[in-house]
Order: sequence, then C-alpha cells, then structure tokens
Amino acid sequence: MYFYKNEFMNKADIQLSPDDRGYYFGDGIYEVFRVYQGQIYEQEAHLQRLQRTASEVRLTLPFTLHRIGQILTELVDKNKLLEGTVYMQITRGEAPRAHPFPAQAEPIMLAYCTEVPRPVATIHNGIKAITFADIRWLRCDLKTLNLLPNVMAKQAALDHGVQEVVLHREGTVTECSASNVMMIKDGALYTHPANHLILHGITRAVVLRLAHSLEIPVKEEAFTTEQLLAADEAFITGTTVEITPILEVDGHAIGAGTPGAFTRKLQEEFVRTFS
Ligand code: PDD
Repeated sequence: MYFYKNEFMNKADIQLSPDDRGYYFGDGIYEVFRVYQGQIYEQEAHLQRLQRTASEVRLTLPFTLHRIGQILTELVDKNKLLEGTVYMQITRGEAPRAHPFPAQAEPIMLAYCTEVPRPVATIHNGIKAITFADIRWLRCDLKTLNLLPNVMAKQAALDHGVQEVVLHREGTVTECSASNVMMIKDGALYTHPANHLILHGITRAVVLRLAHSLEIPVKEEAFTTEQLLAADEAFITGTTVEITPILEVDGHAIGAGTPGAFTRKLQEEFVRTFS
C-alpha cells in the first residue's frame, strides 16, 4: 500500500503526471525513515528536518507536520511493516514546464514502505571507500530530490570496486553519498560541523549524543582527507547504514584496518536506542 496525493492506494493505481515538477526540475524534498519493530525511528527529528527543508525551498507542505506523521504511521501499520524503511517525497506539484513556481499547482506527497533487514554484515565487517570530489551546490543541508551528484559519486565507488565515497571539497572532507562520516583520532570523535555543506543527519545527531554520554570528546570540526587516512578509526552514519566502519580509503588501511573499539562501543549503544 502506497500513499499518493490524498489517499492510500495500490502502487498499480498511482497515476503520475509527466508534468510533476519532481521530474522536470527535481523540484521536491524527501525523507527516509527507519522502522524498527514496527516503530518509526526518530520520527519527530525527521519531520522537523522535512519542515525546515520545505521552508528553505519555499514549498508549502500539503498537510500539517502532525498529519504527515500520522499518515506515515498508518502506512507502516497498513503494510504491517516491522523492519524496513519509509520513503516519502513531496514535489512542488504538476504544471507545464516553466522555471517559476507555478501559481496553481498543489504539492504532491508520495510515500511507501520497503521491508529491509538491518545491514548487519557491513555493520559488522565494515566497508571500503574512495575519496571523491564533492561538486554539489552550497545547500547540502537541504534534503532535496536533486541527487544526481550523489548518484554519480556512489556509482564511481562501485566502479572502483568499493562501497562508498568520502566526499571532499578541495581536500576538506564533507560527507558521503548518502551518509555522514566521522573519524576517531587520539580518543576524540571528529565530524564536519552541521552547516550548509552537509546534510544534518539524524543518525549523526544520535551518534553525537551517544558519544557525549560515553564521555568521548566530540569535535565538530572539518578534517582533511589526509587526516582521515591517518585516523585511528572511521565510520559512516545514516538511516540505512546505521554506524558502518570504514576499513580502507583509497587503498590505505584506517587504523588497524579492522572495526575499532570506539566504533564498536558506539554501535552497541546505537542498537540500544531502538531495542
Ligand atoms: N540519506 N548525508 C547525505 C547526503 C544523505 O543523503 C543522508 C541520508 C545522510 C544521513 O542522514 P540520516 O542519518 O538522517 O539518514 C547524510 C538517505 C538515507 C537517502 O538518501 O537514502
């Protein structure tokens, strides 16, 4: 069961318009939520981020934030989803192709669930990454449908035989294709400050809270690709990847080349936040 425009319906009954501005311009916003044991994880934080993105791109949400939350919960219940994700997007609506905001168009919401197990193998074993130039715009804090640079970056990783890219702007590490990146050096946790150059990840915020409670010093400071290569540990954070260790960047082992003790401790604490 999907949600489209104003109602729940079967996927086969959705009639998408070619005039949807999502197609023409990527003119829309989105969120991906994790569902654990039938519950939407950190729902309020995701909804607040959705509202912030909507207001920054001057898109009027089709429902109140409260109603959107109810719709997503109903979707999870109707689909009897226990473990998986909820994808939702809102585009600026349908109108003949022209750049200005359309006068008449109503924003269009689409949402659906997917059953996905936790990626326990990569959480346990870690992944390899390459560095890759971050050529995106200067509002990476907005969760919009314009993901072509992220798609290109992710594919470059796969073409190199690794799973992820670490994006950098002239040597300064920002984030990854669909996750944030953190490193441990001399017992402190480093990650890029939550400004316009990265998405303010919900998982990032959870992990920083966990680090504080574990009394791990947190430094929201940008670091370079060289500093990343010299880190003791590194990992990515995101709704779909949780906390996944990075073992290797550009063929160089990070630390011992195995998931580190800080990473393991944070992973352990993370699991406790939803179980
Ligand atoms: N991506 N950075 C980018 C560029 C992202 O696209 C995402 C999430 C994150 C992590 O944010 P969070 O912890 O709130 O999931 C960081 C989603 C999952 C996606 O596009 O599929």
